[in-house]
Amino acid sequence: MIKKEITTKENLMEVLDFLDRLKIKYWIDGGWGVDILTGKQNREHRDIDVDFDGEFTEALLAALQEKGYEIETDWRPSRIELYHPEFGYIDIHPLIISEDGSAKQAGLNDDWYEFEAEWFSSAVFNGRVIPCISAAAQKIFHTGYELREVDIIDMKNLERIMSMNETLKIMAERFSCRNFTDQIPEDKELLAIAEAGIQAPSGMNRQHWQVIVVKDKQIIEEMDAEGMKILAGLGDKTMHQRILDRGGKLFYNAPRMIVIAIKEAFPKGAELIDCGIIAQNIVLAATSLGIANIHCGFTGLAFAGSKGEEFKKRLKFPEGYECGIGILLGYTAKPAQPHIPNQEKITIIE
Ligand SMILES: Cc1cc2nc3c(=O)[nH]c(=O)nc-3n(C[C@H](O)[C@H](O)[C@H](O)COP(=O)(O)O)c2cc1C
Repeated sequence: MIKKEITTKENLMEVLDFLDRLKIKYWIDGGWGVDILTGKQNREHRDIDVDFDGEFTEALLAALQEKGYEIETDWRPSRIELYHPEFGYIDIHPLIISEDGSAKQAGLNDDWYEFEAEWFSSAVFNGRVIPCISAAAQKIFHTGYELREVDIIDMKNLERIMSMNETLKIMAERFSCRNFTDQIPEDKELLAIAEAGIQAPSGMNRQHWQVIVVKDKQIIEEMDAEGMKILAGLGDKTMHQRILDRGGKLFYNAPRMIVIAIKEAFPKGAELIDCGIIAQNIVLAATSLGIANIHCGFTGLAFAGSKGEEFKKRLKFPEGYECGIGILLGYTAKPAQPHIPNQEKITIIE
C-alpha cells in the first residue's frame, strides 16, 4: 500500500484540534514548527512533530489509535511515530517537564536533550495561536548533524525570522481584511493611526493631503451603496460580480474608514506617490495595534458619480482636493494571511 508521504496544512489543523480536545500540553516541533513560527507554509512536510507532556503518553497513544493511527516506529521513551491513512505521519516526543518549566527529552543513546523553559513558545499561523518550540531552540536543534535540503530551507527561514525586528514583523503580518466584525476601534487608536499617516514623508514636504477619519457608519454605508451602484452600471460586470461574490459590500462592513483626500502636485501625479506612502503608514500602524485593515482603491467610486460633490462636502474635503484612497478599519471576522512574497521580484546587482 502506498503511504501518504505529505501532511497538509489541513491535516495539521485536524491534528491540532485533536490535541486541543485532549487538553494535554504540547508544542509543535520540526519542520511544521518552523513554518508555524514564520506564519506560513514554506515547504512540504512528511510528518508532524509533537513534543508533549510525557505523563500523558499512554493517554495520547490510546487516543491516536482510537482515531485510526497505527504505530510505525516505537522508540520509547524518545519518540513514537504513528501513521494514519488520511492524516499521514505524526512523530510524538514525550517530555519530562519540571516545575520551573524546563524539560528534558530522552535521546536515543541513554542520553537526554535539555529544553529551557523559554523554548516553549507559540506563534500565530492560519489565524490561530499554536504552541510551538521557539526559533532559538529550533536553531539549536538544527546543529550537530549534516543538514538535509529541507533542513537548509528551515534554517534559512529561521534566520529570517530571528533577524526580524518589530517593524519587519508587522510588515510581514499585515494582510488585507475583507470580512469585518461589528467591533469598533477606539477613538484613541484611530487618532494614533491617523497620526502615523501624517508622519509620512512627502515630496518637498508639501503634504498635499487631508486624513479624514470617518466614524459615521451612515456615510460609510451610503458611499458603499453609491460605489456598488456605479460598479453595477459599468459595461464590464466583472468587478461588480467580484464584490457580490465577496458578500456584496464594497467596504466589507468595516465600521470605520480613513479617506485620504489629495491635491494635485507638481509634477502631476506626485501626489499619488505621497498618497500611497501615507496609506501604507496607516495600514502598518493599524496592524501594529491589532486593527484589521485594507487599502480600498474602490473608495474612489463613491466620488465618481452624481453624489461625489455631496460626499466631499460631508467629509469636509478642503477646496481643490479629490479622493486619493480609502482605508477600511475594524476587526477581522476571519484571520487571513498576506500574499506570499515572490522572491523573484527582488533583483540584486552586485
Ligand atoms: C492601492 C491599493 C488599492 C486596493 N484596493 C482594493 C479594493 O478596492 N478592494 C479590495 O478588496 N482590495 C484592495 N486592495 C488590496 C489588494 O488586493 C491586496 O493588497 C493584494 O491582494 C495583496 O494581498 P495582501 O494585502 O493580503 O497581502 C488594494 C491594495 C492597494 C495597495
